[in-house]
Amino acid sequence: MQLPGTQVSVLEAASATDATSVTALADELGEKPETVVGAVFELADSGLLTVEERTEERVELTDEGETYVESGLPEVRLYRAAVEAGADDGAVSMGQVIGASGLEGGAVDIALANYARKGYGSIESGELTADPDADPDADGEATVLAALADGRVDAGDIEASVREQLVSRDLVTVPESTERLVTLTDEGVTALMEGVEESETVGQLTPELLTSGEWQDVEFTEYNVEADAETRYGGKKHILRQTADRVKDVLVGMGFQEMEGPHADAEFWINDCLFMPQDHPARTHWDQFALDVPPMQDLPAELVDRVEDAHRNGVGADGDGYHSPWTEDVARGVDLRGHTTSLSMRYLSGHAQGELEPPQRYFSVEKVYRNDTLDATHLLEFFQIEGWVMAEDLSVRDLMGTFTEFYEQFGITDLQFKPHYNPYTEPSFELFGEHPETGEIVEIGNSGIFREEVLRPLGVDCDVMAWGLALERLLMLTHGFEDIRDVHGTLVDLDFLRTEEVVH
Ligand code: PHE
Repeated sequence: MQLPGTQVSVLEAASATDATSVTALADELGEKPETVVGAVFELADSGLLTVEERTEERVELTDEGETYVESGLPEVRLYRAAVEAGADDGAVSMGQVIGASGLEGGAVDIALANYARKGYGSIESGELTADPDADPDADGEATVLAALADGRVDAGDIEASVREQLVSRDLVTVPESTERLVTLTDEGVTALMEGVEESETVGQLTPELLTSGEWQDVEFTEYNVEADAETRYGGKKHILRQTADRVKDVLVGMGFQEMEGPHADAEFWINDCLFMPQDHPARTHWDQFALDVPPMQDLPAELVDRVEDAHRNGVGADGDGYHSPWTEDVARGVDLRGHTTSLSMRYLSGHAQGELEPPQRYFSVEKVYRNDTLDATHLLEFFQIEGWVMAEDLSVRDLMGTFTEFYEQFGITDLQFKPHYNPYTEPSFELFGEHPETGEIVEIGNSGIFREEVLRPLGVDCDVMAWGLALERLLMLTHGFEDIRDVHGTLVDLDFLRTEEVVH
C-alpha cells in the first residue's frame, strides 16, 4: 500500500502501542500536532485506525500556589505563630501575632480571610485565638498543593470542595485539553504487515515546480479541511465602539439627532455658557487639560455679552449672578473638553446649525478628557453619552422616564437616582446602576434640567433637560467586568476583546 510520508510514519509509530495519543505521536515523530492530526484523520478515513476524542482536565499550580508550597499557606503560618504566642490558651493581640508570623502586605489579608473559615481559631476586635485541636499539618488545601507540586495527584482525585477553594483563591487553575487517542484497526495492522510505502505526493506548490512544468506530473496531497489549525483572529470593531454604535442606534430610535463638534474648545462653550463661575474649582488644571494654543477668536459677540451679564448680574427678577471676576480672556482660552455639554451649548445657542424650535432631541457619543487619576473606574479619556430634550413643560418624570426607556434597551432595569448639584442644572440627579458581578452601586451618569441662567442667554425660552452618561460604565454593567483597563490601554483582556460581541 502507498501512503503519504507522514501517514506512513504515524501508522508505524501508532502500531508500537495499543492506544496512543496524538500529542505523544507528535512528540515521538518530532512533528507539529496539527500535522499529526491531519495524518491521523486521513488514516481514519481510510479505515486504518480509529480516533477517540477525550476531554481531560488538569489541575495546575499558579505562581501564587507555588509560592505557598515553599513558604506555607498564609493562614497556616498565622496559626503556627498564634500557637507560638500562646493564643491556644487565651486571646492574643492580632498585631503581635502578625508581626511574629512574618506575614506582610496582601498575605496578611489572605491569612485573616481564611483563618476562621478553616477552623484555626477566631478573630475578634483585634484579638486572635488559636483552636488547640486544629492540625496545620493536615490542612487539606496545603496537602493538595504539595501533592500537585510533586505530581502525586490526579485532577480527578482532588476533593471537590478543596479544589473549588483552591480555584477561587487562584492557587490552581483547571485548564481543559482535548486529547485524541489513536488505535490501529485490524486493517491497519494487516496493511503494516503487508508493507506500506511512501507515495510521492507533493504538499507544497513551489516556483520550481511551476517553472519546470513538473507540476503537471506530480500527485498533490489532498487538502484536509478538518485538520486542526492555528486560531486566527481577524480585525474587528473594539467593544467600546460597538457599544457606542448600539447607543447611537437606540437614541436614534428614540427620535434623537446626533451632534458633533470640537474636542479642543473655548472655555466659553465648555464652562462659561454653563454658568460655571470662572473661579469654579472644576475649571482649574487639576480637573481639565488646558492647551498652550492661541485663544479662540470667533466667539459670537452678543452671546458672550449675555453670558457675561448672567454671570455678573444673574437672570430674571430673582437672579443675582456670582459677583465674582469674569473676563473674556479666560472665556477664550482653549481646553480639551471635560464634557460634551460644550456641544449642547453650541447647538442650543443656534451657533451649530441655526435657531432650533421646540420640540428637539439631540445626542452625541464622544470622547471627553479629564485630569483624573487612572484607576479601575477612571480613565483620563472616556466616552460620554450626551443628550438633551428641548420642549415646553418638562419635569423630572420626563427625565427619569427617558433614562428608564434608554437603559432598558441594555437590560438595565434597576436604576437609582440621587439628588446632586451642578452649577448649570436645577434640579440635578446622579444616576446609579448595580454591578452584575459585585453588586456594587456604580455611578453611571449625571443629569438635570438646565437653569434659566444657562438657557436665557442662549436664547432658549422653553425647558431643556439634559445628561451626560458614561459609556464605559454602561459597558461594565452590561458585560460585568470590574476594571475599565480590561478594555482600554496596555493591560486589556485580549480574549474578551476578541470574543465579545455587542448584541444589536
Ligand atoms: N456635564 C455633566 C458631566 O459631565 C453631565 C450633564 C450634562 C449633567 C448635562 C447635566 C446636564 O458630568
